[in-house]
Amino acid sequence: MLLLNPPLLAAACFIIAILYVYRCVTSPLRSLPGPRTSLFSSWVLKYREFRADRTRYVHHLHQRYGLVVRIAPNEVSFASLEGVKEIYGSGGSGYDKTEFYNLFTVYGRRTMFSTLNKEDHARRKRVLADRYANSNILKSNSLDGIRERSRRFVERCSRHVGGGVDLFICLHDYAFDCVTHHLFHPYGSDSLRDPKDEEIMKQVTFDDSLQNRLVQYYNPTLHGIIGSVLSLFSKPRQTPLADDLVISATAKTGPAQFTLLSRMQDKNYNMTQIDMAAECLDHMAAGIDTTGDALCFLMWQISQPGSLHVQERLREELLTNPESSFDKLPYLDAVVSEGLRCFPAIPMSLPRYVPPGGRTIDGYFIPEGTIVSCQAYSAHRIDEAVFPQPDTFNPDRWLQEAGELDRKRLFFAFASGGRGCVGKHLALAEMKILLRDVYSRFVTVPDSSMTAEDMEMSDQLISSQPRGTKCLLRLVPLDGRERYL
Ligand code: HEM
Repeated sequence: MLLLNPPLLAAACFIIAILYVYRCVTSPLRSLPGPRTSLFSSWVLKYREFRADRTRYVHHLHQRYGLVVRIAPNEVSFASLEGVKEIYGSGGSGYDKTEFYNLFTVYGRRTMFSTLNKEDHARRKRVLADRYANSNILKSNSLDGIRERSRRFVERCSRHVGGGVDLFICLHDYAFDCVTHHLFHPYGSDSLRDPKDEEIMKQVTFDDSLQNRLVQYYNPTLHGIIGSVLSLFSKPRQTPLADDLVISATAKTGPAQFTLLSRMQDKNYNMTQIDMAAECLDHMAAGIDTTGDALCFLMWQISQPGSLHVQERLREELLTNPESSFDKLPYLDAVVSEGLRCFPAIPMSLPRYVPPGGRTIDGYFIPEGTIVSCQAYSAHRIDEAVFPQPDTFNPDRWLQEAGELDRKRLFFAFASGGRGCVGKHLALAEMKILLRDVYSRFVTVPDSSMTAEDMEMSDQLISSQPRGTKCLLRLVPLDGRERYL
């Protein structure tokens, strides 16, 4: 009836518009710093998300408006220590996750990562956390597996000595083989040597479903209607080869004692096979892109002419301490910390809901139901008293005693609190063991075909990767340096 009467329709639209504007200008978030447009609309933020550039946009807003910024009518970003502690640490595991994490359900199941509320999360974490404890990672069977895969990595690279090697591929293979070893050895992958397994890694890594999944998140109805047209431009996420791997591995018996699967198969925990497969697929994806990309950005950085002194110093530490354990080498530790500070594999906002009753965060009252977040990229850069010259790659900052506590508190690459990264110790072991093996043998330099644009940060869901999805480096053996450099 309304549709048939244009004046009535116009009046109704006018009233709705007035009410919308009234609601925005009286919103409790109106007094927060931030661009005026963000009080009325989230379109600018969404546009940047669709362009895989959200992280830098939010960081730019922090640089302009300070530690607290309204980024959309119902969304606020914090870059302060107070923000990190309150949002991710209060009550142990911080505020509940938002529906954004629905995008990470697997086979229709919620995994540890995609559970939204504290209770469900705590129940699942009680089962899984044990296998990610540092004491379990440092067990010889677990560590030997990582060492073996690192040797395979070196062997593969050695075949291309002097020429360019695409480390983006090899490092993702390495991360894939390490994580599946930890998840379900002896049924894990061998993508560093077997091209069939490498195809599985590529299916997970070369995924271009960002825009498709964003439409699904913001407007499921629209996604239902235009899904097939949309998939011509941005494919839905499909990983049938990885599905086959986890479904067949979780059906097998007798996985090694240190693996996640052995824990989940324990009858006490009553997990169905599909729940186990969902967890494995989730951890596999979490383990491949994060560790693979973090190593890739780091090795690219220290291969630049301005960073060769970092390689020299690292090599000196590695060659003079061949017997020391990988986790007892201070400069290696500083290089890894600085790599994760400058290039956190998950650089972007980790969204949470403000609990009932609202909360005061960093001096601002934020009403319940508001989406709040911090992003590692900004937490690692914004406070120049803690991180002077934040855009400079400088491992030495981690070796200074002054300011150590503040640096550690603001280090957010693995997030923090009860929902921080459960795979942290595994990831650090993988990174350090590989860097030790590579830089005890080779100097790395960029291949001349690479450009800075190839290595620009491109946001995905929720990790970031080099925009060119390649990273060609030349590996030069230490004993024949003069011949190649
Ligand atoms: C350099 C490597 C890594 C980085 C930078 C990283 C970073 C993170 C971050 C920031 C989170 C919190 C995400 C959020 O709240 O939305 C997280 C959670 C998680 N990560 Fe990692 N991660 C890495 C490696 C790994 C590995 C190797 C695994 C497993 C094999 C893993 C498994 C997980 C899981 C299961 C969660 C969810 C934890 C929970 O909700 O309790 N991560 N990671």
